[in-house]
Amino acid sequence: MIATSVDAMTTDELQTLCAASGDGLHDYEQVVFARDPATGARAILLIHSTACGNAFGGIRRWRYRDLGAAFADVQALARAMTWKCAMAELPAGGGKCVILDEEGLDRRAAYELVGDLVAQLGGRFHTGPDVGTTVSDLQTVASRTKHCATEAHGDLSGSTASGVFAAIEASARAAGFALPGKRVLVQGVGAVGSKLCERLRAADVELMVADLDRAVAEAAVARFGAVAVAADRATSTPCDLFAPCAVGGLIDEVVARRLPTRAVCGAANNVLASSSAGAVLHARGIPVAPDFVANAGGLIHGVTVELSGRMPLPERFARIGDVVGDLLLQSRRDGVPPAELALTAAKARVAAARTRRA
Ligand code: NAI
Repeated sequence: MIATSVDAMTTDELQTLCAASGDGLHDYEQVVFARDPATGARAILLIHSTACGNAFGGIRRWRYRDLGAAFADVQALARAMTWKCAMAELPAGGGKCVILDEEGLDRRAAYELVGDLVAQLGGRFHTGPDVGTTVSDLQTVASRTKHCATEAHGDLSGSTASGVFAAIEASARAAGFALPGKRVLVQGVGAVGSKLCERLRAADVELMVADLDRAVAEAAVARFGAVAVAADRATSTPCDLFAPCAVGGLIDEVVARRLPTRAVCGAANNVLASSSAGAVLHARGIPVAPDFVANAGGLIHGVTVELSGRMPLPERFARIGDVVGDLLLQSRRDGVPPAELALTAAKARVAAARTRRA
């Protein structure tokens, strides 16, 4: 593990933060804390594992409570990228970058800072979009490094939506229903959520949307004929399938006990706040597609273009549905929550890759 502080904090502060994270820094290969001396913009870049290949992970810009919360988020996100690559059988590993959004952030400087960090890693880390990062932000990053997916790579969030849609079809099947005429609630109608809505609308579902940004929700109502649900009612509004496409940590045990749905499948990373929340939903007989399997479409797209220069075939996204379907079937047969099964399988693949490399 290499922990580097680039003009961000003293060694003492770094040690305190690492100790407070409570997750053991030895789990990670590299962490870089960075602050742009001119503007004060701060970012954390974390490489979780390169056992299966160089790390891939997007850039999240988010208003965190403090540096510790940002660090906890980047750890969970980077780890999920490793498992996601493993389950998608990609020759790639997991990493992530977060920018600490704050009042007066010099956005351009923040993304330039990230571009410089990625460039310094010389290909050990490839980056791309995530929550809060736009196409123009990615162009800023790409002005500093060639290891950044831009529009030239194609529509990554569209590919994520394609994979999620295949996973939704499989989840609905596992819950015992077909999509036409059923109520699907999409929480978060951003880059992925809006493209998912397009596909759901074409599948004749009764679409409901919830977004913190009212203008975004209203645009989705107008565009897809959806019914708007207040953002704070997203997890208490009855639906046949709940598709979380906003941020993670949404479903804790309390939410899991009462979530009025028959299946859960969306794009949001780390949507289960804990494994016990997954266990509660499993006990209620609600299939939950493991997020890091369902939302791998954009990653498959980005890694394929980056490593082979070719666009992935559509069948590659359909396969996500097959993998989710198999996991949900096995979950019911073995009485084990699907996220646990997926995690066990992913860890086994990473361990096997590590052994092969040793
Ligand atoms: P985005 O930033 O384009 O959209 C997120 C949307 O969620 C925004 O419209 C925002 O207003 C809304 N939102 C945030 N918090 C909310 C809340 N509490 N309730 C309701 N709405 C809320 O982000 P994007 O790219 O669509 O990603 C969505 C999720 O999918 C994230 O968790 C991301 O990590 C995950 N993901 C995205 C991928 C991609 O290709 N963009 C790939 C894999 C996962």
